[in-house]
Amino acid sequence: MSERFVGQVTLDGPSGTGKSSVARALAVRLGAAYLDTGAMYRAATVAVLDAGVDPEDAAAVADRVDAARIEVGTAAGTELVQVDGVDVAERIRGAEVTRSVSAVSAVPAVRRLLVDRQRDLVAGADAIVVEGRDIGTVVLPDATLKIYLTAAPEVRAERRAGQLGVTDPAEIAEIAADLRRRDEYDSSRADSPLRPAEDAVLVDSSGLDRDAVVDRILELALCAVGKPV
Ligand code: DC
Repeated sequence: MSERFVGQVTLDGPSGTGKSSVARALAVRLGAAYLDTGAMYRAATVAVLDAGVDPEDAAAVADRVDAARIEVGTAAGTELVQVDGVDVAERIRGAEVTRSVSAVSAVPAVRRLLVDRQRDLVAGADAIVVEGRDIGTVVLPDATLKIYLTAAPEVRAERRAGQLGVTDPAEIAEIAADLRRRDEYDSSRADSPLRPAEDAVLVDSSGLDRDAVVDRILELALCAVGKPV
């Protein structure tokens, strides 16, 4: 690549599509920053749970998240996630947080707060890859390139099982059911539901490995800024 990419690539889609590993690798290849907005909702969930707040109590959740200092790094090579100065990078991936994050992220006041912070972080980078659920539709409607990453449900469940080291078919079926439940929740919530932006490019990662998906998006990103590979 002779010239550097300048702009924003948004990467939205359900979980288990390989979105995070694609987004990170893409950011490295583009020499861009990387923002994982899911990590922000997960960090907000840690703040809620640690304060003993019921994730379904929208008003209390909003107050707690407003008071918390949530910091998420934008360097593609590291994972910096802190709540009130405490490192929670590992905890945010645990089952307890995963169970409650949909409820916390459905609270409109939480979304407003975090979307503002996301836009501030994006404004500080000349090139960035931003992953989430509503980045192309709500957070960055004028992004340079919008990608909506999908994969067949069974492929997504297998991938998630692989990450967790699960091989038992009954447990894989449970993971598939959990993915369906979260998709349903995220797609049907009133505020910023999961859906592709009208001008998003749909990429199905079912039959592709990570590098093939990254190559395809890299090509689209460079075309979008008039620097085709
Ligand atoms: O991508 P993830 O699994 O880390 O996301 C965690 C949760 O946060 C998921 O249930 C959806 C929600 N989320 C959201 O509502 N909006 C975003 N931009 C990113 C994540």
